[in-house]
Amino acid sequence: MNQELAFIQGMEQKEFQHTYEEACKLVVERLKKINEEISLQKDRKYIKDISFRVKEPNSCLSKMQKKGYKISLEIAKEKLNDIAGVRAVCYFLDDVYQLAEILAGYSDFEVVKRKDYVKKPKASGYQSLHLILKVPVGTELVKVEVQLRTRAMDFWADIEHHFIYKTKEVGMEVFEKEFLKCSKSIQKIDRQMLKIRRKLEAAGIRAC
Ligand code: GTP
Ligand code: MG
Repeated sequence: MNQELAFIQGMEQKEFQHTYEEACKLVVERLKKINEEISLQKDRKYIKDISFRVKEPNSCLSKMQKKGYKISLEIAKEKLNDIAGVRAVCYFLDDVYQLAEILAGYSDFEVVKRKDYVKKPKASGYQSLHLILKVPVGTELVKVEVQLRTRAMDFWADIEHHFIYKTKEVGMEVFEKEFLKCSKSIQKIDRQMLKIRRKLEAAGIRAC
């Protein structure tokens, strides 16, 4: 059996999938708990939507090949940060940072990496705060990529992902420019919405 096939079969094993699913679910549970606690304290929620996925074996194989890694499960576990992926879509800019801080504060979570594409968006215009966490599942520590973003950032990323990111089309520069322009507008809107919320709070006006 060749290496690639053995890799795919290894990833498809129930045990492997279960470990990464459990890692995602643990992070999702914490995010839900934070959201509930915040809503009691502040009369509003930080998070609108939470989703998760375990990366498809074929996508993992492609990524390993693209990065030139030796094709093995052990190397995938060590090198791929996003086999387990969780996304939380927040209302406001500051919610993204608050959430990251709370998640990082859990003593059983370790922050392996923090990528702030909000402060410094990618060349495409992509914005999100990414935390690579190591979380406990049984006796293992499992990596999870947590993407924290606002609804406006999510709107942009969703559409851009569909048409541009990872597509192999050529001659897309003109569209890439349009997306970059939209990203700038979104950055402005997120800042404006935060300002409005702060003014409302200062005026003692709360959502009902
Ligand atoms: P991937 O191989 O795509 O996972 O990227 P990476 O491992 O080099 O990490 P990076 O931090 O660049 O991206 C991690 C994830 O962020 C991606 O899998 C996407 O979900 C998202 N992402 C990063 N850049 C973009 C982008 O330009 N557009 C969109 N829509 N999503 C992006
Ligand atoms: Mg990825």
